[in-house]
Amino acid sequence: VSASVWLVGAGPGDPDLLTVKAARLLAEADVVVHDALVGDGVLAMVPASTELIDVGKRPGRPVPQELISTLLVTLAHDGKRVVRLKGGDPFVFGRGGEEAQALLDAGIPFEVVPGITSAIAAPAAAGVPVTHRGVAASFTVVTGHRRAGEPDVDWRALARTGGTVVVLMGVAQRATIATELIAGGLDPATPVAAVHSATTGDQVTVRCRLDELADTPVRSPAALVIGAVAALELYAVSARASSGVLAPTIG
Ligand SMILES: C[S@@+](CC[C@H](N)C(=O)[O-])C[C@H]1O[C@@H](n2cnc3c(N)ncnc32)[C@H](O)[C@@H]1O
Repeated sequence: VSASVWLVGAGPGDPDLLTVKAARLLAEADVVVHDALVGDGVLAMVPASTELIDVGKRPGRPVPQELISTLLVTLAHDGKRVVRLKGGDPFVFGRGGEEAQALLDAGIPFEVVPGITSAIAAPAAAGVPVTHRGVAASFTVVTGHRRAGEPDVDWRALARTGGTVVVLMGVAQRATIATELIAGGLDPATPVAAVHSATTGDQVTVRCRLDELADTPVRSPAALVIGAVAALELYAVSARASSGVLAPTIG
């Protein structure tokens, strides 16, 4: 059975980071249902004749998840080819699992098309490899957003992994996160790179020590990269000069 809904990852923002399959599906869709975090450049690839529905959850204008799932089911029942477009990868904090479950329950054939997650692309855009021989042998991707009824992240246990910690949705909670990681044993001088709007024209990287994170201005959306690798800036000097964003070195 061919799918009628595709849960598609749009990547971190730069349309060049879309998969070939995602680009093809965008060109063939009848309707594209997208989130707030999908980059303008990616949306510009949707043909003008294709219906575009913005269900982005923004402060003050929440779209309940059940409504989105119902919308997908209704569109599929109408015989539409539906692309459900999500920032990054649909199964990394994208609630793609819930939508897949709803489609499964409704008996609608669907397919998941992975995308490049910001958890890896944002550090990379700032010249930070999430693993590095002799420096970090693992990385953990964790949400900083606390939801009622969900287990709290055990930050102190994370501090003991010795690997890189990548926090998504962590800007508002960064003071608590830093305090907990330090309480768990991380050195207060641990390097942090906060990468805002990675791979878009608005990208800004801010670097600081873990004990400075609370007082360091960081704009959302950002990926917080915490660990020794965050001191690295592995990009060509020419790119560094042209980016206009010079990060302070960690002392
Ligand atoms: C709801 S989560 C979705 C993550 C997405 N599914 C992914 O794989 O990247 C949203 C969070 O992802 C992170 N994020 C998404 N795109 C980003 C980007 N271009 N630059 C930095 N962080 C980004 C931010 O932490 C943001 O708050």
